[in-house]
Amino acid sequence: IMPTHLRLRRRSFLGLLFLFSLSTSALYFIYSAPGIVNEYVFMVQARGIQIRENVKNIGAQVLEQVVRGAYSANGTDYAYEFNVSESDAPPPTYLPEGFTYLPSQVCPERLLSMSKFSLDLKLRHTVTSGSQPGLSGGTVKLPDCLLRWEVAILVPFRNRHEHLPILLRHLVPVLKRQRLQFAFYLIEQGGTEPFNRAMLFNVGFKEAMKDLDWDCLVFHDVDHLMENDRNYYGCSGMPRHFAVQLDKYSYMLPYNEFFGGVSGLTVKQFEKINGFPNAFWGWGGEDDDLWNRVRLANYSVSRPPGEQGRYMSISHHHRGEVQFLGRYVLLRHSKERQRVDGLNNLNYSPLVSRRPLYTNITVRLNKELAPIADY
Ligand SMILES: *[C@@H]1O[C@H](CO)[C@@H](O)[C@H](O)[C@H]1NC(C)=O
Ligand SMILES: *[C@@H]1O[C@H](CO)[C@@H](O)[C@H](O)[C@H]1NC(C)=O
Ligand SMILES: *[C@@H]1O[C@H](CO)[C@@H](O)[C@H](O)[C@H]1NC(C)=O
Ligand SMILES: *[C@@H]1O[C@H](CO)[C@@H](O)[C@H](O)[C@H]1NC(C)=O
Repeated sequence: IMPTHLRLRRRSFLGLLFLFSLSTSALYFIYSAPGIVNEYVFMVQARGIQIRENVKNIGAQVLEQVVRGAYSANGTDYAYEFNVSESDAPPPTYLPEGFTYLPSQVCPERLLSMSKFSLDLKLRHTVTSGSQPGLSGGTVKLPDCLLRWEVAILVPFRNRHEHLPILLRHLVPVLKRQRLQFAFYLIEQGGTEPFNRAMLFNVGFKEAMKDLDWDCLVFHDVDHLMENDRNYYGCSGMPRHFAVQLDKYSYMLPYNEFFGGVSGLTVKQFEKINGFPNAFWGWGGEDDDLWNRVRLANYSVSRPPGEQGRYMSISHHHRGEVQFLGRYVLLRHSKERQRVDGLNNLNYSPLVSRRPLYTNITVRLNKELAPIADY
């Protein structure tokens, strides 16, 4: 009997095939898997047409499936046998029309029924950076109800200057409607080492906690735009995977343990799991390791129901950044590494500056800053 996660991988692989066939009819795949995922063969013929960038990206994901499959085949692999029969939180009911917020009442976790929200696609192209009066480091306080959650939104960053104003212009109004107190922390990686998204999150967490005793942490990629403002960024239901359905994956979850894009933990949970791993240089794998950490701590992950978890991604994902192929080896030892690699072995010297909408934490990273013994 194939372990659950293998079945899931297979399903996600079929999903990718579906994506491919959507991408161009000139691509052919032969899937021959008499039982084991890593035995399949695939063949691509691009009949004289240019293979577009999205196809290349999906190609990398197929490779990932192959490699994951190879590591899963012995049954003692990185993906621990978690109970993943997690169901979504029940759909929220909305506040009645005409609801008034009161300064003496705690802010509700639901939105007004009338706050219909649609994503303005033109945002992708026309937004310029703007500042709002009265905000410092992006911190917003709303006067019309008692704040329920204080949310630090951590955004790892490198070479994406055109994406940042799009994200902020998109998300700030949503978070105001959600009646959250929030601030954005942009953690920019200097130097020339491969991008280390996870370590940037750890740095961002430590710096954010110097400002305020935050309740909730949202780990947010700069190129992800939520499509539904009822995807609530308060701590309810955390740990939480927010970015469930991405346009670039045809709004399908790539695999059940997928924890990428946008996720959230409470501060207590994040400290308990020793944060993110620092050992993932280059993109990929750190989100899977976080999933393992969360599940090994016996937390279950919730996801927003239905289409609330939809996101649009700004194109050029992973532009110019290398993949981290060593992740499969590391992921097999999530459990052992959790104690020694994370918040507790991290040194860094940040450069912090306050901008109107965010705090800029710039930091050079290298392996010596997060020493870890081999095992
Ligand atoms: C799976 O097991 C075989 C034989 O026990 C071994 O040769 C192979 O290296 C293992 N594969 C992985 C990915 O650990
Ligand atoms: C997995 O979760 C389901 C639903 O919550 C539960 O019925 C089942 O007993 C669990 N299985 C294990 C092995 O914990
Ligand atoms: C998680 O639950 C398992 C089984 O109940 C238990 O053995 C383990 O110690 C728990 N882990 C933590 C970190 O609480
Ligand atoms: C953050 O600060 C660094 C150093 O001052 C600067 O080079 C960089 O452009 C800033 N980034 C953003 C997005 O503000």
